[in-house]
Amino acid sequence: MMLPGLTAGTSLPNAESATLFARGCTVFPGGTTRATIERDPTPRYALKGEGAYLVDVDGQCFLDLNNNFTTLIHGHAFAPALDAVARLLRDGTCFSNPTVHEIDLAELLVDRIPAIEQVRFVNTGTEAVMFAIKAARAFTGRSGIAKIEGAYHGSYDWAEAGQRGTPSTWGSPEAPAAVPAYAGTPDSVADEVVVIRFNDAEGARRRIAAAADRLACVLLDPMPSQCGLIPPDSDFIAAVVETARHHGILIVCDEVLNLRQGYRGASARYGIEPDLVAAGKIIGGGFPIGAIGGSRRVVGVFDGPTGQARVAQGGTFSANPISMVAGRISMEGMTLAAFARLEAMGDRLRTALTAAIERRQAHYVVSGAASLFRIHPKAMLPRDYRECYPLSDEATSMKAMGRFFQNEGIILPVGAAACLSTAMTDADIHKIVDVFEQFLTSGTGGEGEAYR
Ligand SMILES: Cc1ncc(COP(=O)(O)O)c(C=O)c1O
Repeated sequence: MMLPGLTAGTSLPNAESATLFARGCTVFPGGTTRATIERDPTPRYALKGEGAYLVDVDGQCFLDLNNNFTTLIHGHAFAPALDAVARLLRDGTCFSNPTVHEIDLAELLVDRIPAIEQVRFVNTGTEAVMFAIKAARAFTGRSGIAKIEGAYHGSYDWAEAGQRGTPSTWGSPEAPAAVPAYAGTPDSVADEVVVIRFNDAEGARRRIAAAADRLACVLLDPMPSQCGLIPPDSDFIAAVVETARHHGILIVCDEVLNLRQGYRGASARYGIEPDLVAAGKIIGGGFPIGAIGGSRRVVGVFDGPTGQARVAQGGTFSANPISMVAGRISMEGMTLAAFARLEAMGDRLRTALTAAIERRQAHYVVSGAASLFRIHPKAMLPRDYRECYPLSDEATSMKAMGRFFQNEGIILPVGAAACLSTAMTDADIHKIVDVFEQFLTSGTGGEGEAYR
């Protein structure tokens, strides 16, 4: 349901957003403080969110399929979490002392996620991945990591390597390059990162074994968005896990995005038993968070005060009570039934989008699982980063699709995972499918223009 009194889409001028962007451009390089903000040509400034919907400063209302980069599993302004936070605020927002709230959220995660016996909290997914890598290094005494080509893990130098390769830099399929994310990255980073291709079982076995004596961990997102948001092949997982185990290399599952795939998270869903799990996004209930969990033996590297711990993990705002309480309430709302409802809604959406593609005989394909999905302007599902990488006409189609959806009142992230929230209804699902079908027949970069 659209919020009353508001108009859908971008057909109205976005004068307020344009004014704010002009102000932003004077104080921020690039006009905003996140590279990931979509702009076409200017970003839309948010005024407020309510459930499945976002209202911008020009008074336009959008069904939000971004949900702050898949964070808001209950949609915007989830009342139970907000009420609890409002009650908490009067008692102070952060302390140099621990609080009961961090134990509450930790107990919930330990109870649900099989690989997590103990956990530490930080503020972002980037930090969670960074500390998981540091923990693996301290535990094994080795410095290197293996990771999947193209997979996004945040901004730690080693986790970034090989994340943004292009056809001219990514190297041969047999030996993908650890392309640095930015100029000036120390050369040693590339020497310490072994890149493997998603779902390339033979390559993973060969590459991990060849570098085994210097690898601390394999950093594994079970379903990387940038590799197409497709599930891992079981033989790929088996190859990675068997080779790593054989050589004493730890498995670190980055579930910052994919924990939302189920009550027990993504590694349990895909049969992986990681040594460490990096989490974030949904477990903070809309507030900043990251977490590193794992077996007692491995996360024991964090044990002890600064100076005595093998890895000193602190952080001024780590485990702040606001994120802890909002996260717990939000996760408690994600019961088995809530996950099942969201997954069924995701299945219906993917099926209906695919049916629309077949009806229109369009060169599009839909991927995803549970509450996550991506629409690719391709005839076949990509199997890895190289196949997912958009050709220039595909990039044009994706941009046109994002613009079309926005004109119809839907925020659709086009180069990354889109997601559903528990605030959505079947009417929202129908609207997404209707708009997509209109796009396919519109000649604005859908089937009509790009592929005829
Ligand atoms: C798989 C994955 N890992 C790590 C991160 C980094 O998390 P954050 O943006 O909270 O630093 C992200 C963020 O999108 C992610 O999707």
